Amino acid sequence: MRGYDPGLMSDRLSSIRATLETHGQAHLLAFYDDLSESEKAQLLEQLEHIDFAGLEALIETHVRAGAQSEVPANLQPAPYYPLRGGSTDDAVQYRAAGGDLIRAGKVAALAVAGGQSTRLGRNSPKGTYPATVVTGKPLFRVLAEQIVANQNRYRVTIPWYIMTSQTNDAATRAFFRDNNCFGLNRRNIFMFPQGLLPSIDASSGKLLLSEKGAVAMNPDGHGGCIKALAASGAIHDMVARGIEHISYFQVDNPLVKVIDPQFVGLHVAASDSSAEMSSKMVPKAHPQEKVGVFCRSDGKTIVIEYSDLPEQLVQQREEAGHLRFLAGSIAIHMISVKFVQKLTADPLRQALPYHRADKTVPFIDPKTGRRVEPTQPNAVKLEMFVFDAIPLAKSSIICETSRVEEFAPIKNARGEDSPMTSHQLQSDRSGAWLEAHGVKVPRDAEGHVAAKIELGPLTALTCDDLAGIDLPVVIQPGAAIVL
Ligand code: UD1
Repeated sequence: MRGYDPGLMSDRLSSIRATLETHGQAHLLAFYDDLSESEKAQLLEQLEHIDFAGLEALIETHVRAGAQSEVPANLQPAPYYPLRGGSTDDAVQYRAAGGDLIRAGKVAALAVAGGQSTRLGRNSPKGTYPATVVTGKPLFRVLAEQIVANQNRYRVTIPWYIMTSQTNDAATRAFFRDNNCFGLNRRNIFMFPQGLLPSIDASSGKLLLSEKGAVAMNPDGHGGCIKALAASGAIHDMVARGIEHISYFQVDNPLVKVIDPQFVGLHVAASDSSAEMSSKMVPKAHPQEKVGVFCRSDGKTIVIEYSDLPEQLVQQREEAGHLRFLAGSIAIHMISVKFVQKLTADPLRQALPYHRADKTVPFIDPKTGRRVEPTQPNAVKLEMFVFDAIPLAKSSIICETSRVEEFAPIKNARGEDSPMTSHQLQSDRSGAWLEAHGVKVPRDAEGHVAAKIELGPLTALTCDDLAGIDLPVVIQPGAAIVL
């Protein structure tokens, strides 16, 4: 923050007041005179960082005109590379190509971890949530151990970029410090907070005050990582390290393969991939599953968010009986550094479109100065989604993976995508790997593993890694095993 200089402060105040008046947002200074000198300086600083002209256009389209996400009329299901055994010729070839790139130090990991675990009933960074079935390792540890194991396997440094948010950046850094970075070298972990956007009153289009001296802000969505990668210097750091491709994933999925040589290989070497942005999918478990769906429109691959896909398409089935719009996005991508550079080359151009989310946001009434706690959504938050970058790639590919192998997100306290469903999937995967090596694993009537089996990344990154390890012969029903 700049030093206190009364003359300068008054110039800045006049300039910002003029801007606010031009854009109909002068109420943001309603309590300016009541603020302490440091609060005044903070408010001016905050206001000076808001692009009011750009925001006015967004308020017009997304708030006043009430624009919702537009869904193209000519949607088709997107094609994908179907799941085949890992031993087919193609798979072996792609795995070798990906392995070479990883070994050469050209692949980095990127976790988007800006969220708090509010839906899980906590108010701490999502990555600190205890995720594993027996020992309750936090998500960050599960991911970090995979990076350690891959570094050992490929004898290379795999830098880890982590997008935080203003709300959880300090707590995330403290968590890593307190846990000695989970065995990783601190210099190879690059944390950067995502951008913020003002929250907007839904009926008037006015920005909201969270305090008398502060504008209410919200994180700009995980798509904000594209801009933040450039703005934070992360991309610069990648270039300096010789990184060419980024393995992107969400912090909420303990089964994600943080680095997957076969996916890396397919992304760079498939004949129909421009090696800019590639994705993984799993077949949707049921029509209403809350995952985005890969579609094609005008020759481009796009993701339509679950809430936006028209109900008629959600329910449509092929003759064989399976869902026509089947390919669920599990938010795992390979993204090239060059592609991020292309998207962010012009700092004045917004890389990705905004989506509107209606939220309940407490605010200070500019007329009375009283705090209002609405019980219904009163505000519009604007967010970017990373999958909106896919149609900006020349040619983007999708590959199928198996849910039990790679997708067990923890999002809700109960029901779908909860710790309970994730734990079951984690045990199911461990059980399947053990069975492949001759271990007798108990299963219930529905075919799920009837024991808690935790298999750490440092023991095995893949099923094949269990070869040569001393394994139990039989696992008893209800047992809790850590390997
Ligand atoms: C998301 C995807 C959905 C996908 C599903 C797979 C969106 C809009 N939807 O749904 O298509 O099928 O995951 O699990 O993305 N995050 C940030 N900053 C933000 C917002 C989110 O870092 O501003 C991070 C969160 O920490 C979390 C991840 O992004 O790791 C997903 O966010 P969340 O809001 O949980 O998305 P979903 O609705 O679950």
